[in-house]
Amino acid sequence: MSEQKHALVTGGSRGIGSEIVKVLLSEGYEVWSLSRTKMDDRENLHHISCDMADRSSTEAALESVIKQAGSVDVLVNNAGITRDGLIMRMKDEAWDEVLAVNLTSVFLTCRRISRLMASQRKGSIINISSVVGIMGNGGQTNYAASKAGIIGFSKSLARELASRSVRVNVVAPGFIDTAMTDALSGVLKEQIATQIPLGRIGKAVEVAEAVAFLASEKASYITGQVLAVDGGMAM
Ligand code: NAI
Repeated sequence: MSEQKHALVTGGSRGIGSEIVKVLLSEGYEVWSLSRTKMDDRENLHHISCDMADRSSTEAALESVIKQAGSVDVLVNNAGITRDGLIMRMKDEAWDEVLAVNLTSVFLTCRRISRLMASQRKGSIINISSVVGIMGNGGQTNYAASKAGIIGFSKSLARELASRSVRVNVVAPGFIDTAMTDALSGVLKEQIATQIPLGRIGKAVEVAEAVAFLASEKASYITGQVLAVDGGMAM
């Protein structure tokens, strides 16, 4: 019998995160999801309540996962928020909150889990960035800074952990149909679709499949890469 693989996914309760959880479950992983709200109960899925904006909440949740799971083969940092606005009117809180949830939480989870993976001498970390971290976007300086930060962070971590056979990669989604993009009007969505070479907004499961690939042994020689799942937007 093959050994049970363990995955930890942040923000697994909805949107892209819940699709990542479903795909990993379907591939036989036991999954721990860290989020404030819980997704439906499923076999082999554990929910750990956590506010990723809060350092002590995140650190406590990570210790709970490690206690329960013992080992972690795959870490997916997916939790993320937007607090959009033009720089001249951006409040400190909008900057601090986005950087805390989108970037500091990635530092905290990677710091703790990389220790575990380094001692296991195996593991795959996938951090979810955005095409906005590559291309920039007016009204999203805070979000773009956090998502570009994830790319530099992940490439550096990939270099630090490669000698321990731990791989670190980034998935950069384009426009994906979730609660995050629900706020956009139908007309705006149609306009956006015209800017995408594949001519449509993406589905959360399309991002999840890319994550599952990078998590798997099929990607055993891939580290430090940014895989855009964006219908060709950022090429
Ligand atoms: P969503 O808003 O549907 O889901 C975000 C997830 O993060 C939820 O599970 C939520 O509970 C969790 N989360 C947010 N704040 C949290 C906190 N303080 N503590 C714990 N969990 C928290 O968003 P979506 O679209 O599924 O986004 C997932 C990731 O993909 C994010 O990192 C986002 O920046 C990124 N992304 C999304 C794109 C899109 O078009 N939807 C495009 C590019 C990147």
